[in-house]
Amino acid sequence: MPTPFDLRGKKALVTGASRGIGRAIALELARAGAEPVLLARGAEALEKLAAEITGLGVRALPLPTDVTDPAQVDRAVGTALAEFGDLDIVVNNAGGTGAFGSFLTLPHSAWEQAMRLNLESALHVCRAAGPHLLERRGGSVINVASFAGQGGLPLLSPYAAAKAALISVTRSLAAEWAGQGVRVNALVPGWIETDLTAPLSGDPATSASLLEAVPAGRWGRPEEVAGAAVYLASDAARLVTGACLALDGGMSVLSGGPATLKFLNATRA
Ligand SMILES: NC(=O)c1ccc[n+]([C@@H]2O[C@H](COP(=O)([O-])OP(=O)(O)OC[C@H]3O[C@@H](n4cnc5c(N)ncnc54)[C@H](OP(=O)(O)O)[C@@H]3O)[C@@H](O)[C@H]2O)c1
Repeated sequence: MPTPFDLRGKKALVTGASRGIGRAIALELARAGAEPVLLARGAEALEKLAAEITGLGVRALPLPTDVTDPAQVDRAVGTALAEFGDLDIVVNNAGGTGAFGSFLTLPHSAWEQAMRLNLESALHVCRAAGPHLLERRGGSVINVASFAGQGGLPLLSPYAAAKAALISVTRSLAAEWAGQGVRVNALVPGWIETDLTAPLSGDPATSASLLEAVPAGRWGRPEEVAGAAVYLASDAARLVTGACLALDGGMSVLSGGPATLKFLNATRA
């Protein structure tokens, strides 16, 4: 008896699938039965993942693509539709922090790069796949935003602004497309251990100081984000659109930040 979380028969497109959170999302969608189309620039990593997914008894299609290039995105979505016939799930996960520095030291090109990778790539994918989803009157778009997009992030202002814009686009598209049965939601991860954050999680002093703001007191794992993607992709979430689901061990709900946690721990001591 299938559960509402069952994704068998559904086709998914996942960007940034070669490693980290995107890889975990593609694998978890496949474990739930969906057939994923895998996008990233790294062809070898995509081929390896596709072989792993095929081993689960599920078809997977690796398509090396730079998602900042609209022509490449159009081509990839066209190939996905030609090979798989349909698309039901679109995960805009490709992203990265880019240049790190104070506002006055960052060149404007850092802003352009952050916007291209974290915001415009998702716009290209939504423009390419949106007409198909709307025509079928069904589908789930999942944008991977960041806690950085829900406030300010010193030294990474372009990244924070791009993710804030992605959250805003998620809400606008959710409202625009809800009447045609297409849902648009965002995952909002906190600190997750991946290659992107390895320089932070790998340094004990930095890691400890970042975790002072996390009530759960630990780094998240990519699989812990992926489970939420399966939920949002599935019929279990058929009334959910425009939601921004935090996966951050409580970081975003803590008023007062690390000082509050220190106080809490002191009262327990
Ligand atoms: N890790 C965290 O703590 C954290 C927290 C909040 C939000 N996030 C967000 O979660 C998403 C995944 O992050 P992650 O930590 O898994 O990062 P990651 O390990 O660095 O992986 C990034 C993925 O994006 C792909 N990518 C980068 N540029 C691309 C391009 N131009 N075209 C196509 N694919 C591209 C990379 O593949 P190739 O290099 O092979 O192209 C890779 O698969 C990002 O949007 C990130 O902003 C992460």
